[in-house]
Amino acid sequence: MNIEFQLKAELKCSGSLSDAVTSSDLTEFVKYCNEGVLKKGAPPGCGAEITWWDVAGEKIGLKIVSDRFVRAHDALFRLKNEFGKFLGKHRIGIRGVEIEDYEIGIEWEEGLRIKKLPFVKEIKQEEGRLRLFLDVDEYALEKRIPDRILKLLEDKCEAARWKGKSEHWELLFESGKRDFYFDKDPTEELIKRGWIRHAAGRGQWIYGPQLTKIFRAFERALLEEVCKPLGYEEMIFPKFVPWDVWKRSGHAKGIYPEAYYVCTPKTRDPEYWEEVMDYYKVTNEVPLDMIMERIEPVGGMCYAQCPPFWIFLQGKTIPDEILPITVFDRSGTSHRYESGGLHGIERLDEFHRVEIVWIGTKKQVIEHAKQLQEGYRRIFEEFMDIEWREAWVTPWFMAQEGKAGLAESKEVGTTDYEAVLPYSGKWLEFQNVSVNGNKYPKGFSVKLQSGEELWSGCSGVGLERWAAVFLAQKGFESHKWPEKFRTIVGELPEVFRFL
Ligand code: SER
Ligand code: ZN
Repeated sequence: MNIEFQLKAELKCSGSLSDAVTSSDLTEFVKYCNEGVLKKGAPPGCGAEITWWDVAGEKIGLKIVSDRFVRAHDALFRLKNEFGKFLGKHRIGIRGVEIEDYEIGIEWEEGLRIKKLPFVKEIKQEEGRLRLFLDVDEYALEKRIPDRILKLLEDKCEAARWKGKSEHWELLFESGKRDFYFDKDPTEELIKRGWIRHAAGRGQWIYGPQLTKIFRAFERALLEEVCKPLGYEEMIFPKFVPWDVWKRSGHAKGIYPEAYYVCTPKTRDPEYWEEVMDYYKVTNEVPLDMIMERIEPVGGMCYAQCPPFWIFLQGKTIPDEILPITVFDRSGTSHRYESGGLHGIERLDEFHRVEIVWIGTKKQVIEHAKQLQEGYRRIFEEFMDIEWREAWVTPWFMAQEGKAGLAESKEVGTTDYEAVLPYSGKWLEFQNVSVNGNKYPKGFSVKLQSGEELWSGCSGVGLERWAAVFLAQKGFESHKWPEKFRTIVGELPEVFRFL
């Protein structure tokens, strides 16, 4: 990609330059910079250059033009340093840097229109070229904002390339055919039987005693058949996720359209809230606008379940001999704003999931994923007798950052488990198993004593999804359910009757 940077800046000095340095001294100095400092590290003929300069009182005006090798903002910092040394001899210091204009021109073949970018006050898209007029100060340059804007553009191009294509999906395994004992939508049957009722929230249900018992039976099968033999211990992961967790997990890059946001009051002083309370009392309406002014978004509700766990290990070094670490959490709900796609207990805004996390060396993590997968197959065959398939898909941690495609390494990625729903013929993803590579240990700065790279994996088992799949295929006549499942579920309780 051909890029040109044009920066106009002013160095503010602590004393008048006109008195201290002669014009020929400065010309000499600029030449020295143009030939040395601004070319350092760049291939021959490349780098940055001062194309114009002017001294007025205590200010030095500069125009810097560069290619991508010594980007103009890097050149500016090099110059600030060099000027500092040069002027120091004349007892003049540099007080600050003012950025007047910064234009970046990029060769732009993409049909992609860019309408808005952070720190960019104007965008001109002309034939074959994208021109960005930046609105930045010295601090923004120190924070490398221009580099990040360029990276963002690359990501946008990448995303656009993937957009037209269907999501990555590659079949890995298919179970044999199974007998189906039901051909209707299980949610409708659940409602008809009074086993569930839609809750007050969107995509939220109240599960009655019968379905709850079925969920718990699934959980028990999972714990007894898979977690216990593989040495898992239970933990309780937080269910409110502050921004800092999502910054480290990558969710902060893309989760916004799907998050359930959490806000705290700006103060808990009752007086501050009195107007809100009074408004409600006289109208019976909750005054959303007034509330919005008084709260602050501090994060979101549990979305992927494992990220907030990693704070437990953040900044720690782990002795090799305690690996692999195997823990799970089933302590609460996950929340996703499922725009439009809501359907029965299959696609929900609030759902229940057992999240399984394992941590070890690369070899251990890959090996462990295989053992888990064997355990799952046993459950699907012996306890549920379902027809399912496994597919290699875009890793969940990439998808949740808004990325498409596959991880760079073939060993890192997500296997989705899908089962067919006889009533619609559609396949429903009901759980996943992922090798997440070093992403989480790296994001949360967790190290291994031996210095070997630490890896991790996770697997989410959605209880509503397991139930949806099982009931859709095996129906509601419990005598037709597999013997092993009947044994763990026992009698379904009858608690409520309605008149
Ligand atoms: N954390 C993983 C996910 O959100 C597994 O549950 O998909
Ligand atoms: Zn996870």
